[in-house]
Amino acid sequence: MEKVIIFDTTLRDGEQSPGASLTSEEKIKIAEQLERLGVDVIEAGFPMASEDDAKAVSLVGKRIKRSIVCALARCKDEDIEIALRSLETAAKPRLHIFLATSEIHRKYKLHKAKDEILKIAVEKASFAKKHIDDVEFSPEDASRTEPDFLLEVLKAVVSEGIKTVNIPDTVGYAIPSEYGSLIKYLKGNLPDNVVISVHCHNDLGLAVANSLEAVLNGARQVECTINGIGERAGNAALEEIIMNLVVRKDLYNLETNIMAKEIYRTSRMVSSLTGVPVQPNKAIIGENAFRHEAGIHQDGILKNRLTYEIMRPEMIGMPESKLVLGKHSGRHALKARIENLGFQLNEEQIDRVFDRFKKLADKKKEITDIDLIVLTEEEEIKIEEPTYTLEYFHIISGSSTIPSATVRIKKGDKIYEDASRGDGPVDALYKAINRVTGISPTLREYKIAAITGGQDAQGEVTLSLETEGLKIVGKGVSTDIIEASGKAYLNAINRYLVRKNLVRTKYKGD
Ligand code: KIV
Ligand code: ZN
Repeated sequence: MEKVIIFDTTLRDGEQSPGASLTSEEKIKIAEQLERLGVDVIEAGFPMASEDDAKAVSLVGKRIKRSIVCALARCKDEDIEIALRSLETAAKPRLHIFLATSEIHRKYKLHKAKDEILKIAVEKASFAKKHIDDVEFSPEDASRTEPDFLLEVLKAVVSEGIKTVNIPDTVGYAIPSEYGSLIKYLKGNLPDNVVISVHCHNDLGLAVANSLEAVLNGARQVECTINGIGERAGNAALEEIIMNLVVRKDLYNLETNIMAKEIYRTSRMVSSLTGVPVQPNKAIIGENAFRHEAGIHQDGILKNRLTYEIMRPEMIGMPESKLVLGKHSGRHALKARIENLGFQLNEEQIDRVFDRFKKLADKKKEITDIDLIVLTEEEEIKIEEPTYTLEYFHIISGSSTIPSATVRIKKGDKIYEDASRGDGPVDALYKAINRVTGISPTLREYKIAAITGGQDAQGEVTLSLETEGLKIVGKGVSTDIIEASGKAYLNAINRYLVRKNLVRTKYKGD
């Protein structure tokens, strides 16, 4: 059966989501998970955009063995050279070069005529091909480019040896019928061995529909991101593309290398590390995606699941909320269960998760897979540098008292203690933490959610802090919501300490 190549750009276009920025260490964790997911190409960054992007591409290249690792560059010698240097570590490197071709971009952004654009495209394609075999070319804003000029540019770069041409709907303007026709036209006029790739943005909510229509018309590579994150309204969501191909195989009759069971885990990891939440009604991975509320639906499901269900949560690795371990389960059982959920932790990490598992089991009768995932994720996304951890806290609060908090916080071998009053218990806690860390960020968002049902559910706090122009997210989990709040706050501060030293000179200009 024919295959569709899955090109993931979570670490490049996805990272351009407002508020999402990832350290190199976080990019490596996501890249490893993308490889487990079975992604064919991982676009790891845009090395010219910042030193940190260049470093991340190089580190991802070093770590990833099965997937192709790709770096983006404008059609400029300097960009291409930096991208090539970053790719030196990769076992399977790909260079992705782009140049805008639409009239609006030619006239207002690049101030260049058609023939000049054509000349640059050919020159840079040829320059790139001299240094690396696998080169992809993207005519930016392709969907708004005159089709005959688009084809002329593509034919010219193909004659320089380029085998993958990507057709971006950069501003999310196309609709499925016209985008599909464009792909059909290009497919019919380019050599058979050229792979046509599609890259759709979601400004009109059509990124996935456009990508799938393109596939029906001959595209064989889809560029997408986990959870659909990306510039403005985002990119086509990988999980939606995959489950369309799986559920409607009768129609598409195409395969991918994606292990659908890894989708849920990848989605959670990307959301935790970027701080971009998943909307509850998001197709495939939203928390409501498999919930049936209406009585008529529930009745139908009980009689036969097929009445209202086109796919099962386990197809994407979404765990069931049922009891899996209890207070008396040992380390061995915990390790086996964690491995069964697809996590790969070392012995030290398992020890720490086991420790937290025992504490949780003291407070909570039933430990479900979702509880275990949350405990394990905390370990997985932990920042390795010496960071602040909450050792102890004490809160005084009530309707006729001024709330106050005392904290004991550890960093490396040092223990710090301090106290503060506040407008409420959480505010007092945060002010006491500020006194210890010497950082006083502004709390921009604060969200609390119960992870599992019941009165002893774990509470998950997600918050966003802003300090010195940096917006940082944090996450904390506990059966005690004040403790979860404190952990989330310290998690954000720890991330801030890692990030403030990053060189983030995002490029300006064409
Ligand atoms: O949306 C776009 O045009 C891009 C290109 C760089 C491929 O992201
Ligand atoms: Zn894009």
